[in-house]
Amino acid sequence: MLFSCKYDNEKDLYPDNSCITIDMSYNNNISTILQDYGCISCHNTINPQGGVNLEGYVQTKIWVDNSRLAKSINHNGASPMPKDQAKMDSCDIKKIESWISDGARNN
Ligand code: HEC
Repeated sequence: MLFSCKYDNEKDLYPDNSCITIDMSYNNNISTILQDYGCISCHNTINPQGGVNLEGYVQTKIWVDNSRLAKSINHNGASPMPKDQAKMDSCDIKKIESWISDGARNN
């Protein structure tokens, strides 16, 4: 191959077609994403690193409302998260942002 593609996966190539962000649910989508990226292993009730607890809706909502969560995952104006790792997949970021702009409901 003469030219290599700079994109690694379909999600980056076709963001609009493959990334479904409507009607995001805290229980079915958001808590799973936070779990999958290891957020909860550093930000839990027993040992909330940086004083940030993201275990459960009520605690997570605090960091939504002060906008630190959205900033941190966008590496924009807060400590970049997940800590010492690459940005989350852009689709997962969009899902969280969509849930937030829908009012960050406990749904
Ligand atoms: C390896 C442990 C670790 C992981 C994994 C991790 N964090 Fe953090 N997080 C920290 C620490 C430690 C801090 C305190 C600031 C610092 O040291 O960078 C922090 C700070 C934060 C803050 C406050 C940022 C600010 O500037 O006010 C938010 C919000 C946050 N993390 C969200 C997340 C989210 C969301 C994820 C998953 C995508 C995540 N973190 C993954 C350790 C972690």
